[in-house]
Amino acid sequence: MRRITVVSPILISLFVALASSQLFLPSFLKKYYPQRHTVQEPIMHLFDSAFPASNKDNPPSGQSGSVRISDVIAKDRAINIFAGFTRDIEPVSQRLEDGSQNTTVLAPLNTAITALPRKPWEDPKDYTALGEMAYDGSEGEGRAHKNLRKFVESHIIAVSPWKKSEKVETMDGRKIWWEEEDGKKMIRPDNVEVTSIANSVGNGEVWMLKEVLNPAS
Ligand SMILES: *[C@@H]1O[C@H](CO)[C@@H](O)[C@H](O)[C@H]1NC(C)=O
Repeated sequence: MRRITVVSPILISLFVALASSQLFLPSFLKKYYPQRHTVQEPIMHLFDSAFPASNKDNPPSGQSGSVRISDVIAKDRAINIFAGFTRDIEPVSQRLEDGSQNTTVLAPLNTAITALPRKPWEDPKDYTALGEMAYDGSEGEGRAHKNLRKFVESHIIAVSPWKKSEKVETMDGRKIWWEEEDGKKMIRPDNVEVTSIANSVGNGEVWMLKEVLNPAS
């Protein structure tokens, strides 16, 4: 009996810790962050690349057959959190599928997103106004989705190829450009380094960024 009284508080705190780690993200957003216990996702990815649907069902023909950003953005593991976000923001996912519109995607590395002091869909103003429960329930979900859309759209520009010093507007309406510094591409005015160009396809390019860009104010 004595042992039980010692063990049970430990069990209870373990249970609470487990439960709160699951509650930490709004449920619809949990999928963006790799969960330790999911084995399904990597298996799905393997399956995707082994059997590309476009080769089986639609043999490439002219414009509709050319590779688009939407086909390649999820392939690079280093940016797969941001790639997941783009699929859930409809105006963005439509644009990346559209072979008739060019786009440059400025995709922050996973490490840039996980290093943020808060999740990209969290806005301190929401917490001030609504408290801890700001993203609970369907209204909270709507709020998180709106913030996530702004975050994603601040990393998409409707121009490709994007030339040095050319000032362009992000999808959320902010002017940015890039310059070279010590052999590196730097996005201005934020001074964020482009670590590489992950992909260059028919309707644009995916650039990888070391840090996230600021949204329009
Ligand atoms: C779109 O991108 C393609 C591939 O880089 C390029 O050849 C074409 O000129 C671009 N179109 C426009 C309107 O910029």
